[in-house]
Amino acid sequence: MHIGILGSGLMGAKLGTIFAGKGHDVVFSYARTRGKLDRLARQAGGNARAGTVAEAAHQEVVLLAVHWSRLGDVLRLAGDLAGRVVITCSLPMNRGDSKLVIARTSSGAEALQKKRPKARVVSAFGTVPSEVFFPLQRARPKNRPSLLYCGDDARAKKTTAGLIADAGFDPVDAGPLEMARYMEPYTLLIAQLAYESGKSAKLAYRFERY
Ligand SMILES: NC(=O)c1ccc[n+]([C@@H]2O[C@H](COP(=O)([O-])OP(=O)(O)OC[C@H]3O[C@@H](n4cnc5c(N)ncnc54)[C@H](OP(=O)(O)O)[C@@H]3O)[C@@H](O)[C@H]2O)c1
Repeated sequence: MHIGILGSGLMGAKLGTIFAGKGHDVVFSYARTRGKLDRLARQAGGNARAGTVAEAAHQEVVLLAVHWSRLGDVLRLAGDLAGRVVITCSLPMNRGDSKLVIARTSSGAEALQKKRPKARVVSAFGTVPSEVFFPLQRARPKNRPSLLYCGDDARAKKTTAGLIADAGFDPVDAGPLEMARYMEPYTLLIAQLAYESGKSAKLAYRFERY
């Protein structure tokens, strides 16, 4: 797949690197310096390169991984994203990262879909801390951890499920995009366990049915 990364920080850099390692063409974009993007692309190897937001937004799949406060800026540079599978892991947090600014009656993912109605938005990857991605690649457990995703476009969800599997997770379809209203607050619980429990932040979760 051709994947554009909008926001090459903790989430975008790691996921982009993993996708490049799985043979996808990856364009890293939106960091404070071009040097960082060049370095990331070099380290990721394969078919990874650094590019502008417009170039990244031109790819068939786009991962949105910016702080909520940067959303307006990055969308302005990205254009209308028409027809793109836009996977968002971005949580609608306030500037201090202490609370969700959209919750219960809507979600960041739904707000994004409203802002870019021609994009095929899927919410995924945001329910685990970035710290878990590389260790999971190395561990390759037989029983994979789950990863929730939701969206309204069936084909976009299928594409996303493939990328979730590439990242070493078992994709769990949570239903329509509206379910992001529950997934996003769930992430705050995961963050509490990852960062405030005094235990490892290399944390993932697994759903079982008995
Ligand atoms: N980190 C996690 O574990 C985690 C987990 C779940 C969900 N999320 C969500 O995922 C999203 C991304 O989180 P993150 O931790 O990856 O954020 P991050 O590390 O801060 O990365 C954000 C990216 O945006 C870039 N950026 C920020 N301001 C910019 C500006 N003015 N101009 C150009 N680029 C700019 C940063 O550039 P630099 O690289 O130069 O700093 C960085 O590449 C957030 O919405 C967060 O809530 C994060």
